[in-house]
Amino acid sequence: MQDQPHHGDAPSPGRSRRDAALFLWKWVQAPTRIGSVWPSGRSLGRAMAAQLDLSVPGAIVELGAGTGPITATLLQSGVPPERFLALERDPAMAAVLRQRFPAIRVIEGDAGELPALMQAEGVETLSAIVSCLPLVSLPRSLVRRVVEGGFEILHPDGRFIQFTYGVVSPIPLRHFAVQGRRVCRVWRNVPPAAVWRYTRVPGVAVARDRG
Ligand SMILES: C[S@@+](CC[C@H](N)C(=O)[O-])C[C@H]1O[C@@H](n2cnc3c(N)ncnc32)[C@H](O)[C@@H]1O
Repeated sequence: MQDQPHHGDAPSPGRSRRDAALFLWKWVQAPTRIGSVWPSGRSLGRAMAAQLDLSVPGAIVELGAGTGPITATLLQSGVPPERFLALERDPAMAAVLRQRFPAIRVIEGDAGELPALMQAEGVETLSAIVSCLPLVSLPRSLVRRVVEGGFEILHPDGRFIQFTYGVVSPIPLRHFAVQGRRVCRVWRNVPPAAVWRYTRVPGVAVARDRG
């Protein structure tokens, strides 16, 4: 995908500091749910955006949008705002997103309830899921709901894109019948991250076992 005109407001040093302070405060309150002490950088956003295939029909949803650094880069990269939804569980962060990105739909809610949340928005199919959730530190039952619920409404050719700071697949491949591979490393992010891309195994149910 090519860079396009920006649909969110440009970041200023003051705003970056406010975002960082909010992030740090939320991390102190719930470290496993936030998963990072620092918002992601643009390089990581660009690496996530590069994995999108907008010719696949359906909406694009970002899970765990936080204060919106990846949101902004996805919009800059050409994701049409009318096809884009940002989901965030934290009310203060969701309020920041609403104010900052008036052209997209911001949903305050739990990614574990994705099919119902999308249905409420009139979204039947997802072209892509761009997940910023800290899957490795979330409860296993929630990860299962996110992955199974996500693939339930993902188009057959759709992609589930996820970043991680770890070295192994953030979706445990022994528990789900999906194909996944690391598509790039982003050394310039703090901390360095890897982007993984997951797709359906044709004709096979995503739920594998209850381990
Ligand atoms: C690692 S941060 C990423 C934030 C932002 N996208 C970025 O890259 O800087 C993870 C985000 O996921 C959100 N989150 C965690 N669990 C969630 C859930 N079950 N549903 C929706 N959002 C969730 C957190 O509140 C946090 O904003």
